[in-house]
Amino acid sequence: MSILFSPLTLRGVTLRNRLALSPMCQYEAVDGFVTPYHAVHYGKFALGGFGLVLVEATAVSPEGRITHGDLGLWDDAHIEGLTNIAAFLKQHNAVPGIQLAHAGPKAAMQRPYHGDGPLTADDHARGDLPWPIVSASAVPVDAAWLVPSALDTEGIAKVRSEFAAAARRALTAGFEVLELHGAHGYLLNSFLSPLTNRRTDAYGGDLRNRMRFPLEIAGELRSIWPEDKPLFVRISAVDGSRDGFTIEDSIVFAKELARIGVDVIDCSSGGIGGYEHPNGYGYQVPYAERIRHETGLKTLSVGLIVDPHQAESIVASGQADFVAIGREALRDPHFPLRAEQVLGAANPESPYDTWPPQIGWWLNGRERKLRKIGPWAAANRTATA
Ligand SMILES: Cc1cc2nc3c(=O)[nH]c(=O)nc-3n(C[C@H](O)[C@H](O)[C@H](O)COP(=O)(O)O)c2cc1C
Repeated sequence: MSILFSPLTLRGVTLRNRLALSPMCQYEAVDGFVTPYHAVHYGKFALGGFGLVLVEATAVSPEGRITHGDLGLWDDAHIEGLTNIAAFLKQHNAVPGIQLAHAGPKAAMQRPYHGDGPLTADDHARGDLPWPIVSASAVPVDAAWLVPSALDTEGIAKVRSEFAAAARRALTAGFEVLELHGAHGYLLNSFLSPLTNRRTDAYGGDLRNRMRFPLEIAGELRSIWPEDKPLFVRISAVDGSRDGFTIEDSIVFAKELARIGVDVIDCSSGGIGGYEHPNGYGYQVPYAERIRHETGLKTLSVGLIVDPHQAESIVASGQADFVAIGREALRDPHFPLRAEQVLGAANPESPYDTWPPQIGWWLNGRERKLRKIGPWAAANRTATA
């Protein structure tokens, strides 16, 4: 029996399987607004069988965008487009989730396919102008990144209220899972990491102080996000270099998040201080495994999970409660439906029963015919022999 294709209940929300679409920016928004691209893009993954679809990093303020193409929830006017996406996902049995983010020291960048660096004259000519960026301290996330200015106490309070307002809007839009982006060198990560946080006030210094701002925001979101809906936090379980945030720090942080009422730690890594860590298949699974075992929290594992058997083994062995698929889902939006067949979790007599009926009815009919006529290669060999 497949564990990957067993449901997972988080508070009052049940995912039909243990496969989540990882949040992935598409850089197709205009002034933070959803465009038709997003509706088609996210719709594919609901039709493809994902239990949970996490909408990309959605900025809580215009300054908190990575690029001019990021989605936003800093204005009530942004709610409508996201409402349509959440409704479509639900209609097709995927739980709609959204990631709230502030890019901090990695804001005001080029869209990756325009160069993935600071905005240049070519970007300015396209209308993508830079803006001042903020972080825990005036320290870039690594060499060649922009130098931010340090948030003052008022700035900290402003960002906190922007996260709160965006969470209320996400709820109005109909999302059932909220994920706080605390990873990849963005604003909250810049507070957690000793490599980028050089503050001398209550928000800097030892780990307790560096966790303060992310914990305040998580607490704020928990007070807004209803009791029956789960709250996730994505973390960089380790920084890119070994003298930064460690897995032991992550365990302390996760225990504090658990006390606040966070339900799931989405275990990513890196974003500050280079990339010293190995990058093999499932390279971040050990972080999800340790955090799960040492905190009792549920974990979501992500990173080069590309094969149905690999995904099944991660959840069956208890390394994580569920897995997120990123780039493999871009390659194959039907990954879950295909995985169900590969793992023998589909009905052998009519293997397309769980596909959307508009598609599955036809494919089941074709399958019955194909079984009679045999594989194409065999038939083709006979015809040409
Ligand atoms: C196009 C693209 C956009 C991404 N945007 C986000 C994002 O919005 N938020 C986030 O936390 N991670 C983002 N990521 C990271 C992915 O969610 C995922 O963690 C990473 O790609 C590793 O998983 P994979 O090997 O399955 O792709 C992005 C990755 C890609 C490829």
